[in-house]
Amino acid sequence: MINLMEACCSQCKHTPATPCQRFVDCRKSGPFCHESKGCADSRKKLVNRVQVLSGSPVKQIIVCGGTGCSSSGSAKLAELLTEEIKKRELSNEVLVKRTSCHGFCENGPIVHVKPESIFYTKVKPGDVNEIVSSHLIEEKYVEGLMFHDPDSGHPYPHFSDIPFMHGRPGYY
Ligand code: FES
Repeated sequence: MINLMEACCSQCKHTPATPCQRFVDCRKSGPFCHESKGCADSRKKLVNRVQVLSGSPVKQIIVCGGTGCSSSGSAKLAELLTEEIKKRELSNEVLVKRTSCHGFCENGPIVHVKPESIFYTKVKPGDVNEIVSSHLIEEKYVEGLMFHDPDSGHPYPHFSDIPFMHGRPGYY
C-alpha cells in the first residue's frame, strides 16, 4: 500500500513522528533534508501514482473547442492526442479535454497543458507526436509551438504571460 507519510529512503529524516515544517512541499517536490536525485525521482513517481489511483490524472491537455479552433481542426487534434496518449500507455496519467474559446482564435488551434500551464498555438496534427514525446514524456516544453511576440520573437510559454491577453475571456 502506498504511504506518502513514511520516509522515502534511509537518508530521509522526516516521518509523521519527526515532521518537517515543509512536509507538504517535501512530499510534492522534496526531499529537502538531503540531496538525492534517485529519492526525488522515486518521490515524484509515488505522488503521480497516488494521483492516478485517486482518479485524478496528473496532467490535462486542454484542446480549445471554440468555433475558431474547431474550424481549424481542433476536434481532429483532440482525437489524435487521445490516440497517441493511449498508444504510449499514458491514459491513466493524462486526460484530454475540450473547452470553449480562449479569445485567441487567430492563433488556433490552441492546446493548453496543465498543471504546468504551457500554452501552444497553431497546433497541427503533425505536432501531436512532439507534444507527447517531448512535453509529456521528456518534460521538455515545445518552444516552437509557443506564441512568439511578433516584434521581438520572444516566446511566451504561458497564456498569462502574453501582455495583450490580460483581461480577455479564458485568461488565467
Ligand atoms: S476558438 Fe479557440 S481561441 Fe477562440
